[in-house]
Amino acid sequence: MSYQTAYHRWVGIGPYYAMFPTSFVEDTIKKYTQPGDWIFDPFAGRASSVFIGTALNRPAIGIEINPVGWVYGKTKTSPAPKEMVLARLEQISLNADSFSFKIPDSFQEFFNLCFSEQTLKFLVSARNMLDWRNSDVDRTLMAFILIDLHGSRQRSFSNQMRQSKAMAPKYSVRWWKEHKTTPPEIEPKSFMQKKIDWRYEKGTPILPAQSELILGDSTQVINDLNESYQNKIKLLFTSPPYIDVTDYHRDQWLRLWMLGEELSYKRKTEKHKATFASSIEYEKLLLDVFQKSSQLVCSDGYVYVRTDARKNTFEITLKVLKQCFPGWKYRTIKQPYSKNTQTALFGDKSSKPGEKDIVLYRQ
Ligand SMILES: C[S@@+](CC[C@H](N)C(=O)[O-])C[C@H]1O[C@@H](n2cnc3c(N)ncnc32)[C@H](O)[C@@H]1O
Repeated sequence: MSYQTAYHRWVGIGPYYAMFPTSFVEDTIKKYTQPGDWIFDPFAGRASSVFIGTALNRPAIGIEINPVGWVYGKTKTSPAPKEMVLARLEQISLNADSFSFKIPDSFQEFFNLCFSEQTLKFLVSARNMLDWRNSDVDRTLMAFILIDLHGSRQRSFSNQMRQSKAMAPKYSVRWWKEHKTTPPEIEPKSFMQKKIDWRYEKGTPILPAQSELILGDSTQVINDLNESYQNKIKLLFTSPPYIDVTDYHRDQWLRLWMLGEELSYKRKTEKHKATFASSIEYEKLLLDVFQKSSQLVCSDGYVYVRTDARKNTFEITLKVLKQCFPGWKYRTIKQPYSKNTQTALFGDKSSKPGEKDIVLYRQ
């Protein structure tokens, strides 16, 4: 991708899992909507559908349960002014000695090997000071920190790690010891400043349409949308989680800690915050979300759902969609496995039939 415009520098925020490729989102939105038409994504992830929709002058609304995806999405759609983000960075750095974090024994070795002392102080200061839920400035800075919280050594805050997901603490420690790698000695403020300079070099994206991105569980949030958005949505454009594929919360355990959650590598027990291992629970989630969403889509609208081509997920998704949109026609489009697909799981050598899109329409 060329990074010659603000749009191209912001669209990729940030590293997440199972993301829509940008060109796919652009093409789909242009094909099924006109400027001014509303788009809705109840499983928004890092909110590419919402961001690209608003950039193409289509107002958009999204819901995402994972704060990491939400922080990325909100930052793209409402970035704070650069000068304010830099001023906040200065405050975080100045207060780097003001906070302490008691690392639990079971994570001690991980933290010793992952971050330098100076980096950890900076991160703990940011974790304590940034009000990312309520302030655009704090959220924008937090998004930049999350992007590079872990990744390749020297290009991120951490010792060598993957960028899209954080590996298990024990696995990471074993790997670092085997490869004799140490935490990078970087100066956090100037490291962040360079990243911020690059991001804002071409300005911030021009977003002619309005957007709303809600942090929450779609099964509950859509109820509140009904009054304002009934029959208003032209394109329901989404990709639900797939059965047994990704655990969005566990994979982001280190970034979730940065956002203030307790340090834990355990699977979450709350509903919709782990992998979807049970077909029954999965079907219930889709039925609930698509049933409620169907009230929002207008009669000449479209439903475009990208899903896993594997039988279990695909068949449940199609069954639920037919049930929620009775009388609508549909077609499916195969998206064979390529590097760009959402099931391109790093290190996963199992056979991957790729993804399949389901498009529903009235005529
Ligand atoms: C396949 S990903 C979507 C990725 C997105 N298309 C992108 O480009 O980033 C599915 C998303 O659904 C979210 N999710 C799962 N259950 C949810 C729920 N009940 N309400 C809202 N979001 C949910 C997951 O956290 C995950 O980010």
